[in-house]
Amino acid sequence: MFTITIITVFPELFENWCKTSLIARAQEAGQLKINCIRLADHVAPKQRIDTPACGPGAGMVLKAPVVAAAIEEAFARYGSGEVVFFTPSGTLLTQRLCQEMATTYFSEPLSGAPGVGDHHIILVCGRYEGVDDRVIQRYSGRKISIGNYVLMGGDLPAQVFLEAILRYLPGVVGDSRSVFHDSFSGPLVDFPAYGQPNEWEGMAVPPVLLSGDHAKIEKWRNDAALTQTVKEHFSWLRTSEISSEMRRSVAEKIPAHYVVLMHDQVLIGRKEALPGTTSVTTIDVHDIARSSATYGIKKFYVVTPLHDQQELLRVFFQFWHTDQGRNYNENRYDAMSCVKVVSSLAEAEADIMSLSGQIPLKIATSARPVDGVQSLAFDDQAIAWQTARPVALMFGTGQGMTAELLQACDYVLTPIHGFTGYNHLSVRAAVAIILDRWLGYFEPSK
Ligand code: ADE
Repeated sequence: MFTITIITVFPELFENWCKTSLIARAQEAGQLKINCIRLADHVAPKQRIDTPACGPGAGMVLKAPVVAAAIEEAFARYGSGEVVFFTPSGTLLTQRLCQEMATTYFSEPLSGAPGVGDHHIILVCGRYEGVDDRVIQRYSGRKISIGNYVLMGGDLPAQVFLEAILRYLPGVVGDSRSVFHDSFSGPLVDFPAYGQPNEWEGMAVPPVLLSGDHAKIEKWRNDAALTQTVKEHFSWLRTSEISSEMRRSVAEKIPAHYVVLMHDQVLIGRKEALPGTTSVTTIDVHDIARSSATYGIKKFYVVTPLHDQQELLRVFFQFWHTDQGRNYNENRYDAMSCVKVVSSLAEAEADIMSLSGQIPLKIATSARPVDGVQSLAFDDQAIAWQTARPVALMFGTGQGMTAELLQACDYVLTPIHGFTGYNHLSVRAAVAIILDRWLGYFEPSK
């Protein structure tokens, strides 16, 4: 038997919920028992369950002795168990955490009577400013948050938590295999679902799903799940454990990215920065080419209108774009193969257009916030990628891109900085950091 005690100010919030189909069925089957304890039942008549929070400022907390008395009653009724507190400052509830907790609770077969595999969890639903922290310490409670927003109390979070973990209780969801293939159980979200009628509002069910060819359907579903995850849940995917084979599949789904290094339309001069051009440096070209190769950049454009600078790079590439460079260092040669020197941004854009068939979305980068251009954070890939256009990441040299150039971009990435006031990264360091933040894979620990 899996026993849940809910400690709350408002037990009535759970009444109907406990009677809903799957939860009710699990209780009828004798696998699950849910009880509520009303906090007000643990104070003497006319006494309060809350008290002002210590220190200045408004706010009430649930009194430690009242909450503790309710927990003790839960222990007395159904045996001791894990105490879970719902609070916005808790650990974020994820599918991974639900699966971990469910595995602890349901790994042993549950009997209809007290015995092997039994578990008791006590869910404490906070209200007001929360529960006096000493209760959490006293019961070594686990703190859970369902999201980075604040609700009026922990009752809905407790229901969310139960809905998420009870799906793993054997017999609750008809086909138990489906629970382990749910969105966020692995690196991918679920594929989109379709049902009858086959045609609705001019939209047809994808024909492959009606083909009866199971292998083809499986392939379509995997592909659709991957596309949806890359486009809409990249932050999740890139922090999940994935095989090197899947990493290659992810790379194919990410829209084409290009790096554009501007030596033109940039600000120069230390005292009074004015629009001008800057000189190329071969160390930037080397390092940015290597970063570009690491993060799957299709081409790295060095933009300089100056003939002497173009000539310098022509000589440089006489080595790196030929067998001389390949024989010297093959990895470096590979990285250099994506570099192209162009005399203007328009030429780079035309080249991207000819390679990708679409005008690129220009995403500027800047050490300072830019007014008048929509800014993107480093987890806003979905905004850029929903357009399905190739992406040109724009980097300025000198004192950065001119205001006109910045205003001509579609978006600007938020500046990168540490917790210091110093913000003078070299462009090659900024490119590496930005590529990692925008396109990097953050392998989780094992
Ligand atoms: N109580 C209020 N807001 C909450 C949240 N986001 N998660 C858990 N408990 C809460």
